[in-house]
Amino acid sequence: MSFLGVDLGTSGLRLLLVSDQGQPIAAVERSYDVSNPHPGWSEQDPACWIRALGDGVAELRANFAAFGALRGIGVAGHMHGATLLDASGDVLRPCILWNDTRAHAEAAELDAMDGLRAASGNIVFAGFTAPKLEWVRRNEPHIFAKVSKVLLPAAYLNYYLTGDFVADMSDSAGTAWLDVGARAWSDPLLEASHMRRDQMPRLVEGSEPAGTLRQELRDAWGLSGPVTVAGGAGDNAAAACGIGALGEGQGFVSLGTSGVVLAARDGYHPAPETALHTFCHALPARWYQMGVMLSATDSLNWFSNIVDQKPSALTAALGDALQAPSQVRFLPYLSGERTPHNDADIRGGFTGLAKSTTRAELTQAILEGVTFGLRDGYQALVATDLQLDHMIAIGGGSASRYWLKLIATVFGIPIHIPASGEFGAALGAARLGMIAATGADLETVITPPVCDERIDPDVQLVGAYDDAYQAFRAAYAGLKSIQ
Ligand code: XUL
Repeated sequence: MSFLGVDLGTSGLRLLLVSDQGQPIAAVERSYDVSNPHPGWSEQDPACWIRALGDGVAELRANFAAFGALRGIGVAGHMHGATLLDASGDVLRPCILWNDTRAHAEAAELDAMDGLRAASGNIVFAGFTAPKLEWVRRNEPHIFAKVSKVLLPAAYLNYYLTGDFVADMSDSAGTAWLDVGARAWSDPLLEASHMRRDQMPRLVEGSEPAGTLRQELRDAWGLSGPVTVAGGAGDNAAAACGIGALGEGQGFVSLGTSGVVLAARDGYHPAPETALHTFCHALPARWYQMGVMLSATDSLNWFSNIVDQKPSALTAALGDALQAPSQVRFLPYLSGERTPHNDADIRGGFTGLAKSTTRAELTQAILEGVTFGLRDGYQALVATDLQLDHMIAIGGGSASRYWLKLIATVFGIPIHIPASGEFGAALGAARLGMIAATGADLETVITPPVCDERIDPDVQLVGAYDDAYQAFRAAYAGLKSIQ
């Protein structure tokens, strides 16, 4: 038997084939683009996800016999995206992505409504799905009138794979239509943004079966046995499954396009006033909380495009030893910010530039600015009475040891680094596929990776970085006053 994890990411799709022991057999990737037709807009054509999936499967099939023994699939997707389908199941417009902030006015209106935060457990952020639909209603009424189903990106792939409209709880929690505590669609929340229950997919837990792979795909992919498709997960819940973050206080810091500081919770403890996200986990009767910043590696990628140097070359130029904080402050708000500011309008900035400022100093300032932004989320988490004795680092940016030393020092906790191998959202998704297909025990399958390295805070620099963090907060206040 083998199982497939699909990680539908913002910049590409990753497929991970694992054995019946959950061991990685093969991984393939296909990339695609995000389009930004207007400032603050971020869209993707769902057809590119399907193409990437088909191409990736063809590569796996051609090179790995184990693909023929596929029994379960789990899909993890970037969260909050609005994929709008008409009554025939056809896509009505490009998917509006998680980092699209066009619906900030609609989000603020919904967020101000009585009882909305209490019902969903969260601020209605501009990137969430509900305000997007309200924006479509006001600006593209001809499209809104035809909306028969709204699917998150992972649920759209579930639909492509099974022919059924099914979403998991963890992803659905990011719509602002779910009663996150009760794990059910909420009529008052739906009505607030002029939506109906029949426009929503059926809900299942991420580890439950959502359906079976369509016969047409089984034939096209050369599979003879039945293949179960799991409910799947939002990418952050899937990553939590990939690193075994099941129980209270187990968590990660993720340096991806977005930056996430996440911890699993045994119960439901909403804290919307802190701009933390409180979502269902992909596993029954569990939740998680996270601080989300919109531009983590995206900030470095932005700089890398401008100076025409790869991000890895920029970070390598800093060397390995953590330096004292830069005199330059970078405010990482290139697409606005969620935690802790809930501010879609704010934009980034540098302060403290001098004629002598070098490219390396700007790189250092960018890593520091992103890390201070993550500390905002970390502090919000800790303030909910959560005990975090360490965090695991994941995501593309975690390849930089310099950045990890910086995070350990700025957070003041050890950062654990998984030994090389798979431990991200694709593994989490494959694990959900395995549990859904075989009924395997959650605790046996969702285990932490072997971490062969631990990075401790640099005690000599903790004080200097605390001061720099305070300067970063002051720079934010200054920036806010002039924007
Ligand atoms: C979480 C969020 C992002 C996306 C993209 O709320 O918006 O982390 O899931 O990966």
